[in-house]
Amino acid sequence: MNYRHIFHAGNAVDVFKHAVLCRILSHALKKETPFRVIDTHAGIGLYDLTSTQANKTSEWREGIGRLKEPLSAEADEVLEPYHTILAKVRERFGQTFYPGSPQIIREMLRPGDKGILIERHPEDAKRLKQRYDRAATIKVLSLDGWIALHGLIPPPEKRGIVLIDPPYEEPGEHVRLAQEISKAWRKWPSGVYIGWYPIKELGPANECVSVLQGAINADILRIEMLTDPLNDPSRLNGSGLVVVNPPWTLAQDMQALLPYLSQRLAKNGAGDYRVLAL
Ligand SMILES: C[S@@+](CC[C@H](N)C(=O)[O-])C[C@H]1O[C@@H](n2cnc3c(N)ncnc32)[C@H](O)[C@@H]1O
Repeated sequence: MNYRHIFHAGNAVDVFKHAVLCRILSHALKKETPFRVIDTHAGIGLYDLTSTQANKTSEWREGIGRLKEPLSAEADEVLEPYHTILAKVRERFGQTFYPGSPQIIREMLRPGDKGILIERHPEDAKRLKQRYDRAATIKVLSLDGWIALHGLIPPPEKRGIVLIDPPYEEPGEHVRLAQEISKAWRKWPSGVYIGWYPIKELGPANECVSVLQGAINADILRIEMLTDPLNDPSRLNGSGLVVVNPPWTLAQDMQALLPYLSQRLAKNGAGDYRVLAL
């Protein structure tokens, strides 16, 4: 387990993934009934972008560092829940802090909702536990998120969201993502599942989506954002999310956001995106 998210916090991938997560959470908050969020690969929750590690790569400069100016009226409307969380985190912890998915979940949940954060790295899980030990809505589990997920669903609230955001350190994780979501969906078909994958080339992403489509009978939204052209598969050219049971407004939201976000975050002016309802 070499991956440490601090080197990548706030980069273009994080901005894309967290903007979508905030949008899905804000949709869930429209109903009064409580819901549960399960974050299977949580990280440490909060990142200081002035830390030595964050500045070793400086990836955040090409991500959140480029969002100082507005995008467009329609794109900024979609980003509103994300901007609100960023503002809260900066006010509470300092202007240089960036929220990971745990802090986004922590900020957005209401007292009756529940957030389960799973992290396998012992030191990171310890930091998460310390960070949220007084947050009644949050429970931290130091476990393997791929396995723990299946014991946590369906949740007592019957309504909820699963975020699966693995580090892709092991081969075959694109297919594993599809298989684990399919297995979870069979146990809890009404859950909203968000699975993240990196894009160096399109083959593994296509395989992930086709395995998922073949295994489940549910609405799937495939959302991808590229910050580089796909002509060099040795580099991370972008990333994608598969969302099972997406909020009905999400495709439209992404069509409003991604033309602007992909251009703003493009490394050499070659940003691209796609939103496919399957
Ligand atoms: C991409 S980072 C997560 C970032 C986080 N979701 C966010 O958006 O802020 C992946 C995390 O998964 C952890 N991890 C790796 N394998 C895991 C596993 N099998 N179960 C749980 N966590 C794992 C890593 O230690 C790392 O902190």
